[in-house]
Amino acid sequence: MVIQRAKGTQDILPGNIEKWQYFEEMIRSVCREYGYEEIRTPIFEVTELFQRGVGDTTDVVNKEMYTFLDKGERSLTLRPEGTASVCRAYVEDKLYAGALPLKLYYLGPMFRYERPQSGRFRQFHQFGVEVLGANKPIVDAEVISLVWDLYQRLGLNGLKVHINSVGCPNCRIRHSQVLKEFLLQCRDNLCRDCRERFERNPIRVLDCKNPYCWELTDGAPTTLEMLCSECSNHFNELQDLLKAAGVNYKVNSRLVRGLDYYRKTAFEVIVEEIGAQSAICGGGRYDGLVQEIGGPPTPGIGFAMGMERVLAALESQKKLPVSGGSRFALLIALGEEAQGEGFALISKLRQAKIPVGIDLLGRSLKAQLKAADRLGVNYALILGEEELRKQTLIIRDLKLGEQYEISLAQAYVSLSRKFREGVRR
Ligand code: HAM
Repeated sequence: MVIQRAKGTQDILPGNIEKWQYFEEMIRSVCREYGYEEIRTPIFEVTELFQRGVGDTTDVVNKEMYTFLDKGERSLTLRPEGTASVCRAYVEDKLYAGALPLKLYYLGPMFRYERPQSGRFRQFHQFGVEVLGANKPIVDAEVISLVWDLYQRLGLNGLKVHINSVGCPNCRIRHSQVLKEFLLQCRDNLCRDCRERFERNPIRVLDCKNPYCWELTDGAPTTLEMLCSECSNHFNELQDLLKAAGVNYKVNSRLVRGLDYYRKTAFEVIVEEIGAQSAICGGGRYDGLVQEIGGPPTPGIGFAMGMERVLAALESQKKLPVSGGSRFALLIALGEEAQGEGFALISKLRQAKIPVGIDLLGRSLKAQLKAADRLGVNYALILGEEELRKQTLIIRDLKLGEQYEISLAQAYVSLSRKFREGVRR
C-alpha cells in the first residue's frame, strides 16, 4: 500500500514552490524596508508556554494542540502559533536588554489539530510580525500599515481590514459583567460551544459563527461601549493614523480574536472570495503576555497571516507571476566525446552563474529538444559528432526557431554576452 501524507498536510511541489518563493521575497523586502529583523524559534516548545501564553480556555490550546511526551517524559507541543515563542525568546534571551522597541518577523510552519477543509490545514504556514516594548497607537498603526502595504504590493483586491478594541483588563471585567447579564436571558438557546464559553470566557460568544447564536446575541454589549478613557483614546488615535496612511479599515465591534492574550487593539483582514476561511491575517496588542510568561512588563503587538490563504486569494485573482523556465540554455551533447567537451563548456558557464543544463539520461536529439521545450529553455546548444570534428557548436534559438553555428572557442564569450543581454532586457 502506498503511504500517504498525514491528513491536513501538503507537499509544496516544483511548479508551485516558485509562488511561495515570490511571496516570501516580497515579505522579506517589505520587512527590510520597515526595519523588522527575522527571528527563528523552535518548531516545538514546552506545552506550558502555550497553556500560559495563549490561554487554556481557547480552542487552540484546549482542542487543537499536537502535544506529546518525549522519551524524557516532558510534555512538548508543536507550535500552534508564533507569538508565545517570540515572547519566550524575548525573556529567555534577554532581548529586552537591547534597543527597544524590538521589531521582529518570522516565517514558518504551525500546527493545529483542526478539521481540514479548503483553506484550513493541520500544518500551515504563517508570516508574522511582533513589536515588543512600545505601547503607543502609532505602533499599532505601523503594524497594520505594513500588512496593508504588503497586500497592495501583491496586488490583492477586495480586502477588508476589521479593527476593534477589546480593552484592558479593567474594561474587560466591566464588560464581562454586563455581557453575562445579557447572555443569561438567552443562554439556554445558545449552541453547546457558546454555553461552555458563557462559563469560561463569555466574550468569545460574540465571535460564534453559528448564525442562530449570532442573531440571539445581536445587540449584546460590546467592549467598545465599555472602554476606559485610556483605551478609548488609544483606539481613536489609531483610527486617525490609519486614515492618514490610507488604510481602508472598518470598525467591527464583534471582532473577538480566538486567543486570550489580546488587549486594546484587535484586527483581522478578510478576503471574501476565498470562501469560508476568509481571514487571511489576524493580530492585535498583547500588553500582558510577556509578564504572564515570567518576563518584565512589556507591551507588545503583532499579527500573523496564513500564507496558504494569501496564496489562494492571489491565485484566484490571477495575481501570481507565471513561472517561466529559469534555464537559459540546455546543452545537447551526442556521443561520449562530445559529452566530455560539452561538459567542460557548461562547467565554465555555470561558474559564471549562467543557468545551463545538460541531459543526464543519454537521450536522443529529438527527446532532448522536447525536454528543452518543456523546460522553457531559450537556447539549445547542439554538439554532435560532426560539430565536434569541426570544433563548432550549433546555437538554436528555441523561441525564434532559428539557428547558427559558431566555433567552440568563441562559444563561451558569445553565450555569456547573450545571457547578460537577456538579463538586462
Ligand atoms: P490566528 O488568528 O490564530 O492568530 O492565526 C493567524 C492567521 O493564520 C489566520 O488569520 C489564518 O490566516 C491563519 N491560520 C490559522 N489557522 C489556520 C489553519 N488551520 N490553516 C490555515 N491557516 C490558518 C495567531 O496565530 C496570532 N499568533 C497572531 C498574532 C501575532 N497576534 C499577535 N501577534
